[in-house]
This record gives sequence, structure tokens and C-alpha cells, in this order.
Amino acid sequence: MKIDVITIFPAYFEALELSLLGKARDRGLLDVCVRDLRDFAHDRHRTVDDTPAGGGAGMVEPWGEALDEVLAEGAPEGSRAPLIVFPSPAGEVFTQRMARELAEEPHLIFGCGRYEGIDQRVFDEYADRGRVRIVSLGDYVLNGGEVAVLAMVEAIGRLIPGVVGNPESLVEESHEEDGLLEYPSYTKPATWRGRDVPSVLLSGNHAAIAAWRREQSLERTRRIRPDLLPGDEGDAGDAESVA
Ligand code: ADE
Repeated sequence: MKIDVITIFPAYFEALELSLLGKARDRGLLDVCVRDLRDFAHDRHRTVDDTPAGGGAGMVEPWGEALDEVLAEGAPEGSRAPLIVFPSPAGEVFTQRMARELAEEPHLIFGCGRYEGIDQRVFDEYADRGRVRIVSLGDYVLNGGEVAVLAMVEAIGRLIPGVVGNPESLVEESHEEDGLLEYPSYTKPATWRGRDVPSVLLSGNHAAIAAWRREQSLERTRRIRPDLLPGDEGDAGDAESVA
């Protein structure tokens, strides 16, 4: 998968050199290219966040030129047109379902706005020319899109085949499979500071363990996120639709 990011703070994305995504990049599973929006500014102060004092191209032009440059590089061989994602608290909420959808895309372009956001005409221009999604990390306000894009790239990147060593570990997580929160996990030792691992987990009885985990998932979801429960128990109607 190819991922382009346009931002005025490229340093945020140094985190993508670490851990599983860093390894995935080294192994060629993920190609991340981060561009500084200020390189597309027209004035000597490299202004991109507002109308430059004394007039000038403002913030629309740098966005247009940065996006045009990325688009002009073309899609990875044989793949469909890229999807442009603009993080914004005014967008559709990012979910595990959306992460799965976006993990199927061969080329994602993220445009990180700051402060007052991005001029509406930028969204309109690229929606007319291709595919655009405006996506929120959640119902709160960040200073800009960078942290949201980092979270999205991590959630999407780990779903690319080969990025996470054991694909089975992806299936039993919160929001996967049944759309419920994951059951509590325990490791070794069996007793720590007087707290025991639940005895069923040490029983070797796989059916009993599966039943216990299911019950724990349901109990946890009922208590913390009842909106995720299917049918009568939650508001969602279909757990998948909100997972
Ligand atoms: N930019 C500012 N707040 C944001 C949010 N909640 N999600 C995505 N981008 C943002």
C-alpha cells in the first residue's frame, strides 16, 4: 500500500518508522511518503495557515499544488485511483469497519489541516476529480489532523496482510469479528500480588474458556459500550454497523 501524507509538521510522522509499521515499511509492505505543505507555499514566510499578510495565494493554492503533485505521480502500477482522506472533527467517524475498508485501498492520500481547517473548495475540487472522504477520529477536537492520521495509519496498516505476524491475533480483538469489546487478557504468573488468573483459563477446557470469554466480552460491552450491542440490547441494531 502507498500512503502519502501532506502536513506542516512532518516530524509527527517519524513515529511511523517505529515498531510493526516501521518493519512493514522496511519489508516493502507499506510505502509512506510525507510531504511538507510549506514547500508549496508562495511567500518567503512559507505561509499556509491563513491569508498571507498583504495578500497572496493564501492556503488554497499550496493545497492544490501539493495534491496535484501527489496525484501526478500516479497510482501504484495497475491500481485504481487514490482515495484522499481529510481528517476533520466534522467528518464521518473512523471505525474498525472503515479501517478494514481503507486497508483494501492501494493508495491513500492524507491531507492534514490545522487550526481553522482546510478551505472547502479544496475538498470540493478533489471530490469532483476523484474520491474524497472527510474522517473524524472521534467527537473531540485536536489541534490538527496529524494525530488523527497517525492513529488511522496504524489501524489501517496493521490490517495489511503480513504486517502483523500472527493474523489470528487480529480476529479476536475488540471491534473485530462480533463487534464487541474484547474479553480481559491474562498472562503469567498465575498469581500476582494476591490476584489470581481466573481458574477456567488454567483448566485446559477449550469450550469452557471460549464460553467464559464470550460472557466476559458481553458483560464488558454491556457495561462500557451498550451502544455496540446488537438487537434489543443496544441502540445499534447491528453491532457490525458501529464496530
Ligand atoms: N482535527 C481536529 N480534530 C480532529 C478529529 N477529532 N478527528 C480528525 N481530525 C481532527
